[in-house]
Amino acid sequence: MGLGNPADPGVSNIVLGLLEAAQADLVSALFALGFTPATSGQAQWPFAQRIAVETLAMDAGLLRLVAWSCAAATVIAVMVTIGAIKSRLRWQLWFASIALVGAFPWPSSSLVLTESVPTSFQRAPAHFDVDSIGHGLALYEAHCATCHAADGSGETPLAARLPVWPPRLSGALLWRRREGETFWRIRNGMHSRSGVMTMPGSADALSDSDTWDLIRALRVLGAGEELRREGVWPSPVLAPDFEFHCGDGRAKSISDWRGQRIRIVFANPLLAQRAEDPRLATVLVQTPGAVTRAQCSATSTAALVAYASLAGIAPSQLSGTEFIIDRAGWIRALARPGTGQWSESNLLCRATDDRKGVAASGDGLDQLIRRMDAEPITVSTFGVPHPS
Ligand code: HEC
Repeated sequence: MGLGNPADPGVSNIVLGLLEAAQADLVSALFALGFTPATSGQAQWPFAQRIAVETLAMDAGLLRLVAWSCAAATVIAVMVTIGAIKSRLRWQLWFASIALVGAFPWPSSSLVLTESVPTSFQRAPAHFDVDSIGHGLALYEAHCATCHAADGSGETPLAARLPVWPPRLSGALLWRRREGETFWRIRNGMHSRSGVMTMPGSADALSDSDTWDLIRALRVLGAGEELRREGVWPSPVLAPDFEFHCGDGRAKSISDWRGQRIRIVFANPLLAQRAEDPRLATVLVQTPGAVTRAQCSATSTAALVAYASLAGIAPSQLSGTEFIIDRAGWIRALARPGTGQWSESNLLCRATDDRKGVAASGDGLDQLIRRMDAEPITVSTFGVPHPS
């Protein structure tokens, strides 16, 4: 994985979680009390800055100093309050507070705070499906690819004439950003420090939900591109939802099967399909026109488009490809047709350290499953999913 685990486990994670939760709770409370309005349907962050949680996650020393500063500020607040109540100790306590304010090595605000936007704490709607990915990919093609290129590389003739080169949108970039801040930049554009517009805003052309679809599609596109270039995904992706039917004829969707391991197979009528396996619940996606029999199946061009994009290939090349989804709904492994048995080499994202030493008994699929279970996907305090 390119990004690695940005936060140390244990205490740092707790402190980061508290800082993040404190800000999210603050914006919800201000909204509930009517002190801040809604923007794009969610509470608006009313300040020009926020705590740079992502910087603190990378700098253990600074994070420790921030934690001690919070403790010192609490002590000061308690001393001032007690001083106000107990007049006998007032001057001693207030003097001690002033001394502590002066003597404590407070961290510089330019390190701890960073610029924010009104949508900094907003999140994409939790549910996403193959139709929203398809919609996002089409919007990207229509509104963004002239500068950013179909593959997100930013290498286009138009880009060469811009004041700033567009960044490569695959890789870890989009995962390092808060989605609420990416949302803002896409809608309102970007400017250099001297105020020159570097990217035009698209708020007039796109609705809020269009913009979230675009962000989701960018991550899917970026995952596929990075898989093509590097052989791994920059960050795990939740399986985009789609509907299928089983023997009883009733419609189900991938998210209804949370809690089971799922294998999604894109049918290839010319290839012998791997047998169904009791360790995985199988859904077969039929390519239009080719009907293969299976217990549970779907005919969905939107699924074909979304999953081909995740695999970094054209929809026409997807037949015969299989994906494995873990019990929590994350896509964990991919096999191209004709690559033999499953093994750990099919994993799309791995933890950076191998210290867990998964036992090598059983067949390839057993080992793959054990590895997935040993490295569950966790989402960091500011939204980056990673195997841990
Ligand atoms: C006119 C060319 C142009 C168009 C059209 C354009 N972009 Fe950009 N985009 C840029 C440039 C240039 C940058 C880098 C700007 C900077 O760093 O100041 C950028 C940066 C970005 C970034 C990175 C933001 C960050 O956090 O660093 C994202 C994401 C992005 N664009 C998405 C989009 C999407 C989505 C669309 C379509 C709705 C789009 N862009 C349309 C030129 C363009």
